[in-house]
Amino acid sequence: MKTIATIFGTRPDTIKMAPVIVELQKYPEEFRTFNIATAQHRQMLDQVLSVFNITPDLDLNIMLPQQSLAQITSNIMSKLDEALSEAKPDLVLVQGDTTTTFVGSLAAFYHKIPVGHLEAGLRTNDKFNPFPEEINRRLTSAVTDLHFAPTASAKKALLKEHIVPASIFITGNTVIDALLAAVDPDYSFNDILLQRVVEEKKRDGKNIVLITTHRRENWGEPMTDICSAIKKLSVHYPKLNFVFPVHLNPVVRGIVFPILQGLSNVFLIEPLEYKSFVNVMNYSHLLLTDSGGVQEEAPSLGKPVLVMRKVTERPEAVKAGAVKLVGMNSEIIFKEAASLIDHPKKYKAMASVVNPYGDGKAAQRTVAAIRYFFGMAKKRPKDFIPRRA
Ligand code: UD1
Ligand code: UDP
Repeated sequence: MKTIATIFGTRPDTIKMAPVIVELQKYPEEFRTFNIATAQHRQMLDQVLSVFNITPDLDLNIMLPQQSLAQITSNIMSKLDEALSEAKPDLVLVQGDTTTTFVGSLAAFYHKIPVGHLEAGLRTNDKFNPFPEEINRRLTSAVTDLHFAPTASAKKALLKEHIVPASIFITGNTVIDALLAAVDPDYSFNDILLQRVVEEKKRDGKNIVLITTHRRENWGEPMTDICSAIKKLSVHYPKLNFVFPVHLNPVVRGIVFPILQGLSNVFLIEPLEYKSFVNVMNYSHLLLTDSGGVQEEAPSLGKPVLVMRKVTERPEAVKAGAVKLVGMNSEIIFKEAASLIDHPKKYKAMASVVNPYGDGKAAQRTVAAIRYFFGMAKKRPKDFIPRRA
């Protein structure tokens, strides 16, 4: 029996860790999971825990209002140090590139516990884009023993950094496992506003533009420009509904609300629980985002995405033509969105379903690799190969 400690704490790393926790629990004779929530996020974490029915074995409850990166790092480290001393796991699993991910992997290293990293090998090779995630994930790779790369190009990036090839498994991204389980064409929305926009879409053909933004490197002028573009679009296209679940980060809210509140077709709402979010995405016409996870999910639902960032570590859907990197300039965002809204041919070309990120079996492959690592399975699992769209 091996004890696997999973460490997560924000909305995205928890959504992407959840399918692996579920899969590990299918092997009660072989694995005992010890699920540690750092609670770097609080409300946005609790929303995810309740959707996936996960009760952490330990909740470090570290979130502070407007916490600094140094505070997150030191608070997680001191509490995790104690937790790992007591739990003595055989493997620690972390996901992605948040500060929880990096500190979780470093704490495991200090205890000489092997580390498995989900979503390994994403790179922009630009230290400050995204900030601090590019460095969080590079530092995590340095202490990782089992690298679960979502795609072949992520594996390539790891090989360039001289990671041992045998330690890399191409699994696909577990976000697609979560998405496929959550999308439901008959989903009934609890939220009255969502009921209304979905009804207007079905009845009057009123298209939905779904928006998210939160990245630290976009704080200040870039995020102000993003919001100005959305304001201009909402005035120019009064027959579209703009749905914008606003991240709980006070810095983000301090920029978004003053610019966008009070516009009749812009709906600034609280962060949505996962199922509502992906199902409203499924009804949306277009997405404007700087999120990592949304860039992965939307293409598999055939929804065009304009990514409001300088660079992306997820080039696969850009290459496939389903995602376009547009930056944060207000005029360019407006022009690119308007061009898709006004030109059905252009829109159609972008709206084809592509699935470079996974097939819904990433958690299975991850657990198969962990079983192989511990000698519980003789065969190395086969790599994920995306099907042609
Ligand atoms: C974090 C991650 C980022 C990830 C993002 C996903 C780091 C440094 N950043 O950014 O990589 O893309 O999560 O959303 O790891 N807050 C709440 N309630 C919540 C969540 C946040 O009130 O449930 C507020 C708090 O004031 C908190 C602040 O938002 O201090 C910032 O949270 P933090 O985790 O530091 O950074 P994010 O910007 O959320
Ligand atoms: N998401 C959600 N509710 C929302 C907005 C996003 O559940 O209101 C989900 C989304 O489906 C995706 C994840 O949160 O799986 C992305 O998280 P976020 O954009 O906060 O972080 P990133 O992926 O950029 O690290």
